[in-house]
Amino acid sequence: RMPPVSQCYNLLDFEDIARQTMKKTAWAYYSSGADDEITMRENHAAFHRVWFRPKVLVDVSKIDLSTTMLGCPSSVPFYITATALGKLGNPEGEVVLTRAGYRENVIQMIPTLASCSFDEIVNARQGDQIQWLQLYVNKDREITRKIVQHAEKRGCRALWITVDAPQLGRREKDMRSKYDEQAANVQDDEAAVDRSQGAARAISSFIDPALSWKDIPWFQSITKMPIVLKGVQRAEDAIKAVEYGVDAILLSNHGGRQLDFARPAIEVLVEVMTALREHGYDDKIEVYVDGGVRRGTDILKAICLGAKGVGIGRPFLYAMSTYGEPGVVRAIQLLKDELEMNMRLIGATKVSDLDQSFVEASSIASH
Ligand code: FNR
Repeated sequence: RMPPVSQCYNLLDFEDIARQTMKKTAWAYYSSGADDEITMRENHAAFHRVWFRPKVLVDVSKIDLSTTMLGCPSSVPFYITATALGKLGNPEGEVVLTRAGYRENVIQMIPTLASCSFDEIVNARQGDQIQWLQLYVNKDREITRKIVQHAEKRGCRALWITVDAPQLGRREKDMRSKYDEQAANVQDDEAAVDRSQGAARAISSFIDPALSWKDIPWFQSITKMPIVLKGVQRAEDAIKAVEYGVDAILLSNHGGRQLDFARPAIEVLVEVMTALREHGYDDKIEVYVDGGVRRGTDILKAICLGAKGVGIGRPFLYAMSTYGEPGVVRAIQLLKDELEMNMRLIGATKVSDLDQSFVEASSIASH
């Protein structure tokens, strides 16, 4: 009943097939957002408010999509972001994303709450493939110190500290479907957790709600990896991040899974870049965005507005859950095709060409 993967023509096709074929519990956990899912829907819709201002008569016979993010080379200005519990969707879990990332030269962020063990995911790495670590900060800082230092020793190249989840959001679809323990086959330390309220609630006991700016110097003292704050949502915090010497920020609302009515990242990006420029800070910190990125044009818009790169979550989960590694490879290739074609159509030949002049974003307020 499933069409061959070659008949997926864009990332939304994977979502459609996933909806029809995935196990109910897995679909519920991956697809859910917080409360009424307004932010989750708006994340993608917000890209529709940005329009292009193409340049004509530019020689676009050669297009180069490569870039660097946090000093790491990448074939594209996007990465596979961290999403928990990969084995819900595919029995092999996160290593499927690792292998696809290797084949397409795309960076993978490893989640703290992966279904595979951290070492399994690192061991699946090939060649000079690059991985980053997403960190949920444990109340017991010794546990956190060990996770961070182990990751650095095993070659992770950046530390993304999640700051938008002092408590996990209420994802009602997920709570209704509950959590299927057999499908997940999660690690031992997760097994102790009460899962009766769904996967999301089950994992929230790992997260320290007391995490604050005061902890940042401590992170800087225990690792040499660049530090990224994952989930910044206002200009004031972006400025603060620069002043704390943080290397980068990710503007994100956690895929609409945390605070409903948080603004889409593309809107926050305009606010943040304006403030950084006003403070003369725009070259002091790298800015990333995620949430609702489904098309090459979404990626281009974010880069034009000042992002160094964008993260993509659910589409790769859906591709992995339906077609495994070939699905994820196909999804990445589709995005590469869309990026290449649309760069040609706007008159840009390389990522560093992309600037504000290519977009009309006046319907997004900058405050
Ligand atoms: C996430 N996300 C996430 N973020 C994080 O910091 N730690 C985590 O464990 C998870 N887990 C997770 C699970 C699932 C199923 C989803 C969909 C998302 C958020 C993720 O890193 C990213 O911010 C969003 O997924 C981006 O939005 P899109 O691309 O999914 O729309």
